[in-house]
Amino acid sequence: DLYAKAIIMGEKPIVTTDPNKLEEQARGKMTKEGFNYVFGGAGEQSTMQANRLAFRQWKLIPRFLRPTVPRDLRVELFGKTYDCPILMAPVGVQSAYHEDAEIGVASACAELGVPFIYSTASSTALEDVATAADAAFAASSDTSTGRAPRWFQLYWPLSDEITASLLSRAVAAGCDALIVTLDTFSLSWRPLDLDAGYLPFATGTGNALGFSDPVFRRRFAADSSGDTPEDNPLAASRAWTSEVFSGDAHSWSDLATLRRLWAEAGGAGPVLLKGVLSVDDAALARRAGVDGIVVSNHGGRQLDGAVPALEVLPEIVDAVGADMAVLFDSGIRTGADVIKALALGARAVLVGRPVIYSLGIAGGKGAKAVLAGLLADLDQSMGLAGVQNVGELKRNILRRVQYGG
Ligand code: FNR
Repeated sequence: DLYAKAIIMGEKPIVTTDPNKLEEQARGKMTKEGFNYVFGGAGEQSTMQANRLAFRQWKLIPRFLRPTVPRDLRVELFGKTYDCPILMAPVGVQSAYHEDAEIGVASACAELGVPFIYSTASSTALEDVATAADAAFAASSDTSTGRAPRWFQLYWPLSDEITASLLSRAVAAGCDALIVTLDTFSLSWRPLDLDAGYLPFATGTGNALGFSDPVFRRRFAADSSGDTPEDNPLAASRAWTSEVFSGDAHSWSDLATLRRLWAEAGGAGPVLLKGVLSVDDAALARRAGVDGIVVSNHGGRQLDGAVPALEVLPEIVDAVGADMAVLFDSGIRTGADVIKALALGARAVLVGRPVIYSLGIAGGKGAKAVLAGLLADLDQSMGLAGVQNVGELKRNILRRVQYGG
């Protein structure tokens, strides 16, 4: 059972089980720059803090004397069944937090059946992560047939040729879905990184997908008298960064092209837009024919002062109806948080910082410990709330309160 997977009685866990202590533990273990890059919200961090306050304003009303076992955490998303309603959020530059990096986190996810979302800003090439995750999946006694579930996150490049190349690689590497992140077309104002003069991309750390891309390499060579990115990492980093953080180069009407490129690459899975916070954009997404959205403010890392993602989740769910799947992230820390987001209409949630802090604390094993803990906490909390399966999570188990705490 999930509790036994997460906790061995009589043994101290390798990473704290207290979500509010993770940050402190990670601060003591990670490099200062690496920690600050993960921790740092935009501006005065008001949106990052509001993400947590928003969860505190919802409380659960438990029910008793009803069947809660065997518990069933499975969810169906876009015609596929996943073991749990939690996905690993796309997080870039994981080698800046621990040498286990994406391979450590993806392998941890594979062993637990948690879908791993590969970021465009990864520090390890996609194909290497996929191979390692499948090996971990096959070696794990808890998983059976098939391969480690994974999705691909796109920072939408300027050039269609590069986009097409990335999408074919995503399909070839077995990614089930394409998530296009809307809210990071440019960098944001993050004082902790700015004050330290730290930008991982500037030195090539988060550019492994680009540097390993045949089309990017060919174009870079053509522009730099035959250089490879390895010959000239600074210039290649600049070229890649301006390709994927390309300003407001795209519009709603370009989504037709993107969907065509995905289909031409052989992508049979859904296309989702990540970063939606407005009912109007959700409606535009539906009109553009995308299959799903992720209601998210990027963990408060982009527009400081933006509304907490949880605040707008219900109205967006109500507006799009059952036609389009709504996923959620930004501020998930506990099993109860997962329950709240699902009860407000999310089909699944993504979790970012907690797993990355635990990667920083104890590498891939740390990431696995925290993810296993979150699954166990979700499982127990569902039981204590009187809920047997994810489909039962509805708004009637919630009460909005005026106080925090
Ligand atoms: C992110 N996030 C992110 N999102 C994305 O689409 N592509 C990316 O490369 C990254 N990179 C990234 C790095 C770091 C260090 C963090 C903390 C986050 C955002 C991420 O996918 C997710 O939206 C948030 O992390 C969710 O909020 P919580 O769970 O961290 O509160």
